[in-house]
Amino acid sequence: MDSIIVRGNGPLNGVIPIAGAKNACLALMPATLLSDEPLTLTNAPRLSDIKTMGVLLESLGAEVSSLNEGRVMILSSHGADNPLAHYDIVRKMRASNLVLGPLLARHGKAIVSLPGGCAIGARPMDIHVTAFEAMGAVIELKDGYLHADAPGGLKGAEIDFHFASVGATENVMMAATLAKGTTVINNAAREPEIIDLADCLRRMGAQIDGDGSSTITIQGVESLHGATHPVVADRIELGTYMLAPAFTGGEVELLGGRRDLLGAFCDRLEEAGVDISETDSGLKVVHKSGRVRAVNIKTEPYPGFPTDLQAQMMALMCTADGVSVLEETIFENRFMHAPELVRMGAQIDVQGGMATVTGVERLRGAPVMATDLRASVSLILAGLAAEGETVVSRVYHLDRGYERVEEKLSACGALIERVKA
Ligand code: EPZ
Repeated sequence: MDSIIVRGNGPLNGVIPIAGAKNACLALMPATLLSDEPLTLTNAPRLSDIKTMGVLLESLGAEVSSLNEGRVMILSSHGADNPLAHYDIVRKMRASNLVLGPLLARHGKAIVSLPGGCAIGARPMDIHVTAFEAMGAVIELKDGYLHADAPGGLKGAEIDFHFASVGATENVMMAATLAKGTTVINNAAREPEIIDLADCLRRMGAQIDGDGSSTITIQGVESLHGATHPVVADRIELGTYMLAPAFTGGEVELLGGRRDLLGAFCDRLEEAGVDISETDSGLKVVHKSGRVRAVNIKTEPYPGFPTDLQAQMMALMCTADGVSVLEETIFENRFMHAPELVRMGAQIDVQGGMATVTGVERLRGAPVMATDLRASVSLILAGLAAEGETVVSRVYHLDRGYERVEEKLSACGALIERVKA
């Protein structure tokens, strides 16, 4: 297993290109199942999770090819005749459950393994299942698989989500494009990835309104056609790299960055004393040297503070001037980076979903272990400003969601290298 070595090396200055969004692409790819015609995705990120989704779709009978070193992906499902999403693939990635809705819409049948829990939580699928039952599907759990049947096809329905689930919103929106009648999702997720998926489905001929708000209306159509769609910029990668100069001081421009992608995150970062401005090519982040101010964080569905940036913000608060409280409301176990940061000298007290961080002058480099995707990058960020050397092991977590971290940070002056195991 590879490791990444980071050494504190003073201010970062330079430009970082932001890739297409992993979490948008993982929802866009299964949309190919909704049509017999090719779906082309441009600005696709080159990540292991994207490869995993490609393997899953191929196991369902789709064809997935890529051009331009993986940045352009061409998906075709004219031969996709297998409704079974096997545990061996699904267990590797929770987002595999996003084939459930498209399979139901295409075949009137789906057999999808439950993903099982993951490092950050149990991650049940009750919201997905309840929604599809409201649309006429009969779903039962057998041998760890969801067996879903809608032999006469799905019917439009009014659906109330008890939680604004991103995946359930995506799954239902995709399935509803081919349902008979109109589907309304109340308390829908509002993340930018939802809008990006709706844009792609509309390019394919779907009739969708209200995406980006809490109420989405989908008018079912007979069929969808092929399309070409650019994957929206990755707001979590964007937020992650916006934090880098806040750790080290310096000035970094994020190409393709947009403030509207990040909701409350930018407000909290400015509250901490970091300067954010828009440029012709994206966003520029400037922080003179010195400690940032401690700020309190509560993770919430978009447009609140993103849970996927909580670990990275906690790492920054470890050397902030003051005490900050971070409340994680989305997942039940998303503080696994805390003990690793404590190894670097951080002062963090975790009580349930609340973490209290007392800022110290500087962290000290240490060997640490990545436990999940966002925790891994928070340790790298912490290493950028720590005294001495930080060795982050198990960086396969990192490769799920971040392209070429070493290159992007080295280009701005970071001392960072990957050590092949
Ligand atoms: C998406 O996961 C993202 N993944 C996650 O990013 C992100 O953290 C999450 O949304 C929240 O923003 C992808 O888009 C591929 P949810 P998803 O359904 O769809 C509970 C990353 O680091 N829930 O909004 O699985 C669930 O247990 C990943 O890139 C139910 O209880 O998130 C969780 O506590 C991590 N029942 C909360 O809702 C359900 O049926 C949020 O889940 C569904 C969800």
